[in-house]
Amino acid sequence: MRIAITGASGFVGSALLQHLRAEGHTVATLARSGPPTAGTFRWDPATGAVTPDLGPLDAFVHLAGESVAHRWTAARRRAIADSRGPATERLCRTLAALPQPPAVLVSASAIGVYGDRGDEELDERSAAGNGFLADVARAWEAGTAPLHAVGTRVVNLRIGIVLDPRGGALQRMLPPFRLGLGGPLGNGRQWMSWITLHDLVRAITFCIGQRELHGTVNAVGPAPVTNRDFTHELGRALRRPAFLPVPAFALRLLFGAMADGVLLGSLRVLPRELRSAAFTFEHPTLDRALGAMLTARR
Ligand SMILES: NC(=O)c1ccc[n+]([C@@H]2O[C@H](COP(=O)([O-])OP(=O)(O)OC[C@H]3O[C@@H](n4cnc5c(N)ncnc54)[C@H](OP(=O)(O)O)[C@@H]3O)[C@@H](O)[C@H]2O)c1
Repeated sequence: MRIAITGASGFVGSALLQHLRAEGHTVATLARSGPPTAGTFRWDPATGAVTPDLGPLDAFVHLAGESVAHRWTAARRRAIADSRGPATERLCRTLAALPQPPAVLVSASAIGVYGDRGDEELDERSAAGNGFLADVARAWEAGTAPLHAVGTRVVNLRIGIVLDPRGGALQRMLPPFRLGLGGPLGNGRQWMSWITLHDLVRAITFCIGQRELHGTVNAVGPAPVTNRDFTHELGRALRRPAFLPVPAFALRLLFGAMADGVLLGSLRVLPRELRSAAFTFEHPTLDRALGAMLTARR
């Protein structure tokens, strides 16, 4: 297949690029800057323009967006929001106007769309929630409408916490945990719905190929855990104590509203659509996932 990706320079995108190329697909990347070379294109999130012409595509994977994992200043909130809903809509208008729009779009979204939901079990049938990230994710998903309107099969992939030692949340957690300074965040009762990078890349590839999948699809593993259990498992995998709690007020002081939106919010999300399409997780439980990812690196 000929597949194009935005955000290919990022944590998820670079792993996906490698995986798709290893599977023998031709992959074009769309970045916001840098000189165009063979197989690389420019796109401008402010206008949706893509240069040079993309040519026919079987699939498009849209991963680009401003990082949410920093203190949310007013400017960053604007950048997070603008780079999701509006930029996605502009890009999808451009793609919809191509002589041959892609047959399938897999567009990143986030489980943050469900808000902060305590112990409630959530799947794709659950209503969206409240808060900044929920609003951003709703607009992000709605931004794919122009491609849906021209008959492209659209998958809005609600991604959970992506785990891999080479990036994202786990990479940030490893240094303190390796020093024995890890511990639960706040009261540790918040649910964390995670997926390994390895399984996420497989799930994206699966969504491209699986014709019956469309609309919202949760990209999380089948076994979410509380932050307290996550902390315990990570300490165990590293053979280090992990008892030092980080109080909620300290997280709020450090990260502002991002602390409540990302670190302390509780999301117990299940992958109902992936499961009913018979997707198999290679890392279904946290102990197996951490074992596979960290044993060689302990
Ligand atoms: N990692 C997670 O745990 C997680 C969880 C839920 C959802 N997601 C979502 O999945 C997608 C990929 O995640 P990731 O961890 O790979 O993110 P990432 O490492 O931050 O990469 C995102 C990419 O988006 C592009 N980008 C950055 N700022 C942008 C902006 N202001 N406007 C448009 N594009 C911008 C960059 O690509 P170029 O510089 O090449 O254009 C960047 O490499 C993101 O949309 C993220 O929100 C990730």
